Amino acid sequence: MSLLTRVLKFRSAGKAGPAGVEPEEAPGVRPRLFWSLWPRSDRDAGDAVTSNFLLHWFPAKVSKSSMAWSYSFWLGTITAALFLLLTLSGLPLLFLYVPSVERAYQSVKDIEYVITFGRWLRAVHRVAAHAMVITVVLHLARVFFTGAYKNGIARNQQRQWNWVIGVVMLLLTLFLSFTGYLLPWDQLAFWAVTVGTNIASAIPGIGPTVRELLIGGRAIEQATLIRFYVLHIFFLPAGVGVLFAYHMWRVRKDGGLARADREEIAETPRDVAASPTKTYTLLGVARGTSPTVTARSLEAPGTSVNAVPDLMRRAMIATLGTIAVISILSVFIASPLEEPANALITPNPAKAPWYFLWLQEIVTDTTIHLGSFTINGAFIGGVVLPGLLIGLLTVWPWIDKSPRQVTGDWFPRERRTQNLVFIAVLVGILLLTYIGMELRGPYWEWFWPWEAWPTVPGRI
Ligand code: HEM
Repeated sequence: MSLLTRVLKFRSAGKAGPAGVEPEEAPGVRPRLFWSLWPRSDRDAGDAVTSNFLLHWFPAKVSKSSMAWSYSFWLGTITAALFLLLTLSGLPLLFLYVPSVERAYQSVKDIEYVITFGRWLRAVHRVAAHAMVITVVLHLARVFFTGAYKNGIARNQQRQWNWVIGVVMLLLTLFLSFTGYLLPWDQLAFWAVTVGTNIASAIPGIGPTVRELLIGGRAIEQATLIRFYVLHIFFLPAGVGVLFAYHMWRVRKDGGLARADREEIAETPRDVAASPTKTYTLLGVARGTSPTVTARSLEAPGTSVNAVPDLMRRAMIATLGTIAVISILSVFIASPLEEPANALITPNPAKAPWYFLWLQEIVTDTTIHLGSFTINGAFIGGVVLPGLLIGLLTVWPWIDKSPRQVTGDWFPRERRTQNLVFIAVLVGILLLTYIGMELRGPYWEWFWPWEAWPTVPGRI
């Protein structure tokens, strides 16, 4: 049977009867390519997952407590929804944006002022990008507070590696946002990227080479724009996409979210009633019937639900809700577009993108002149400190020796100290970011919110 005949057959098998009444169930499996949200039995619910191309990466059953909004706040799914929205809104922008220093600014101006819905499209892309930076950090914090990088009782769990993959995805997300920052090629973009990449040159010895590699020369110009563009539209999103698929595969291999282990640890195995035969299908392409199956389960009755429709429904709410909120917010949030980039006029102050401002603040605070001797703040704040933080974050699952019984619990007593230290670091970063955003004015002087900034010329 040709693929087309198969697809048409699946579609007609999936059609609802008159007035919402489902058609008589045919014996055996009813494979569908896209949709199967209203199962009428456990068997139908299982088939919905195994016979559906889009749903087959879900398990057939999921523990109720790991699905609770108050456990994960669905922050990982919300981050993934933002990534999807960024891809969807980025595609039309690809047709309109021109990655050349002569035309980039004008093409963004056209998107903003000439193209129908262009202003909204640009705002959606921009708001979603900033939101993704926030939600990925919140997701990381949630995973940390629940100790969800630790293994539970099941065999072959490797949650610590999913945490490491997560750290890489966090860095890719930041770099994805940073490379996008340059593309409008206005003063804001140009100088934020100048400040950001200058930090890289503080690495002793190899710093200037690293910066040259990053920007494709000594100055930010065409080579930088094309480098950032290609990274932004292909390599970094592809990296996030591939790692995300692996991230999800690992969650599945590790037996679901860490919270699920908490339930299973408490239970003793029980016999599951034998089913006379089991019909199986693989993505709706191959099917067959296996002999009688008996099984034992660690799962207490009533602790789990079918992935379709329960997990599916929540995933849809989180995904569509995220897309709706960002789309509505973007109607009201204007995207900045300053004067075209000018390497000869430095805005005063020149600030890094907001998520790197805490580093810029540390760089300033640790640059100390003692007579002819200068303590290199860029090295301390821009290289040593973030390097230590990322290194520590990466190996944390192997350092944390808290008992595995509290894995998947929010703020257990056994993890109090490390959770408090984590909160202190997070609050410190937030505070420094706020200072950099709101309290630093010309020449990086301190200004209270009620103080007016003096008028200073851009530095030439
Ligand atoms: C692009 C960035 C990321 C995406 C799209 C993403 C997506 C997800 C999703 C959808 C889940 C399922 C649970 C949930 O919705 O919360 C999850 C779980 C998980 N993520 Fe992420 N994630 C990202 C970054 C990270 C980061 C930065 C870390 C940590 C460094 C991390 C570590 C984990 C771990 C350990 C789990 C399993 C949690 C558990 O068992 O409770 N992820 N991720």
